[in-house]
Amino acid sequence: MTDDNEASISKEPAVSHNESGHAVATRHDDHALPERFENPGLPDHVHRQGDNDEAAARRSERQVATLFGLSMLATVLFVVAYAVIGKDDNVTLPILGKVHALHVALGVTLAVSMLGIGLGAIHWAKTLMSDEEVVEERHTLRSNDDARADFVKVMSDGADSAQIKRRPLIKYSLGGALGLFAVPLGLQLVGGLGPFKGDVEDLRTTLWDTEVPVLGADGKPEMKNGKPVTRPRRLMRDPDGTAIRLSDVTLGSVFHVLPEGINDTEHPINQKVKASVILISLQEDRIKNTRERDWGINGVVAYSKICTHVGCSVGLYEQTTHHLLCPCHQSTFDLTEDCKVIFGPAKRPLPQLKIDVDDEGYLYAPHGFDQPVGPSFWERG
Ligand code: FES
Repeated sequence: MTDDNEASISKEPAVSHNESGHAVATRHDDHALPERFENPGLPDHVHRQGDNDEAAARRSERQVATLFGLSMLATVLFVVAYAVIGKDDNVTLPILGKVHALHVALGVTLAVSMLGIGLGAIHWAKTLMSDEEVVEERHTLRSNDDARADFVKVMSDGADSAQIKRRPLIKYSLGGALGLFAVPLGLQLVGGLGPFKGDVEDLRTTLWDTEVPVLGADGKPEMKNGKPVTRPRRLMRDPDGTAIRLSDVTLGSVFHVLPEGINDTEHPINQKVKASVILISLQEDRIKNTRERDWGINGVVAYSKICTHVGCSVGLYEQTTHHLLCPCHQSTFDLTEDCKVIFGPAKRPLPQLKIDVDDEGYLYAPHGFDQPVGPSFWERG
């Protein structure tokens, strides 16, 4: 600290007290300091019920312990669900429809587990921990032995004020809740490391690899040689589900697309995360790659919307540069060069979906993507 600084500090106004006992700033020297206002002081401390009534404090203690106990129960249920519920078990929920029961069970129990710890800690702080207002004077950052000793004393006083020593029920229930809470984290960590254990083939195929039945005039599937007649899936607008004509796709326009018939599948959400597509129209002569041009029509091209980094939705299109941007970690794909990565952490181009136009002018996909969609982590196996 310079002498100037020390001098300026020594010229700070001192504090005296007026007749009512309130602190008032006063001047030290002749420098013209601005007028100071009267320090209103701290408001009177209002005691809570538990401060003076041991029965109320014990009631709060039980409520806090109950919330920590609820967290423990939810954590145990998390582990049970993890072990018992099969990966093919489903439940039907409002809005979401049919979803995996395991995901729902793990999500709900983990949420209750965290909520129990959080609410318990808040209730503890509001009803039992000290709520005395304190004033901490400013001091230099230099630390010495006395300061360290003070710190230890403050921590010890804090523990006393939080009543952690006097309330063993809270101490042990909080320890149990936090200790058990580590279990699901550990399970997720251990389960998420190492080679990919899912079905890699599942990632290689999407709904675009399958066809839909052709319906007759009576609304029933047409049959030929005892088998239903099928055709490739049309490109449908997401979310309203209407088919897209080539003539609808004007230069520069962008469509978010799903395969026809996706809502008739057993798990529409699971299908959507693999089969989402972005359809864009650009000037055909801007496309440098011959195969990319051939897999589109008149400059209209379709690409997987699932980012090859970790699977976010690549939904931002910059028309002047022909760049597709993933909002999660800014991976950028160049639409004029087969969606190759020009920036960001993604390692693979976005897979292209070949499109064609049928007799009625609607766009359809003759077959699925030529490579797996989404992140490349499955390659680790
Ligand atoms: S998920 Fe797209 S950049 Fe990370």
